[in-house]
Amino acid sequence: MSDDMNYFSPHLVRLNAHPLVFGKGEPVIKALQRRHLYRYLAATEAIEIEMVNPALQFVMSSNIAPEFVLDAYKVYTDEGFHALMCMDLRNNISNGEMPYLLRYRSSALDRTLALVKTGTEPDAQLILLAIACVNETMIASSLSQATDYTVFAALRELVMAHARDEAAHNIYFTELMVDFFPRLSAREQRLLIDLMPDIFNSLHLSDKTGAENDLRAQGFSESEIQIILGETFNGEVDHEGVRRVCRSSLRMLSRCGLLDIPQAQEAFAEKGLAYLFQ
Ligand SMILES: [Fe+2]
Ligand SMILES: [Fe+2]
Repeated sequence: MSDDMNYFSPHLVRLNAHPLVFGKGEPVIKALQRRHLYRYLAATEAIEIEMVNPALQFVMSSNIAPEFVLDAYKVYTDEGFHALMCMDLRNNISNGEMPYLLRYRSSALDRTLALVKTGTEPDAQLILLAIACVNETMIASSLSQATDYTVFAALRELVMAHARDEAAHNIYFTELMVDFFPRLSAREQRLLIDLMPDIFNSLHLSDKTGAENDLRAQGFSESEIQIILGETFNGEVDHEGVRRVCRSSLRMLSRCGLLDIPQAQEAFAEKGLAYLFQ
């Protein structure tokens, strides 16, 4: 990779917008971009392997949506391949020193998967499936890097291949939820309605811990780290992010009938998400 290329689209590496960071100059900005890239790749891998593919295994091995079983196998291999691409790129660009060699669970993935544990089997499987349906219909802003020509080619190619598959997954998971949700019992539907706002919020938790670790690894002092984090992340949940990517998920929730149930919008409002319907 040549020196003038970016490791990640500059506007997506929020830490680099802070004066205490960009004041340190280009080498530090590039090093934090590189750490951000590694964290993104390792976190994407974790989403595929620990969230989406286990949800697809539930579709493959149950009667939740028989007509979606065959394609579940196809999407499962797509996600496995995305994980491989992430791992492969991490290996290819490592120059001895390699942040995030292993798969990385972001704060968002951690909190989201904790929601699965709030249900007993087989509710847990159903909750995981609902999470995957929401996740797969939220188009990540990181995929916009496919057309950012300041980003090095290997990442652009990875993102482009991923974005192409994710467009198909968006359709698959939407149709899947539209198929299974109306057949759930009233109790199961209520369970998913109550959890839905938490799913939206937890998927958009800012990864403060990851950012903090990156700054520390880059040699920032503890007091600098606290100032940078405090002034970069306002609030736990990235509501701007929710707003940007929620449209397709809301369409899915409307089409499957979830939003027709009177308590649904109230549940969103109670969790600070009333703006989704305004
Ligand atoms: Fe994927
Ligand atoms: Fe996907």
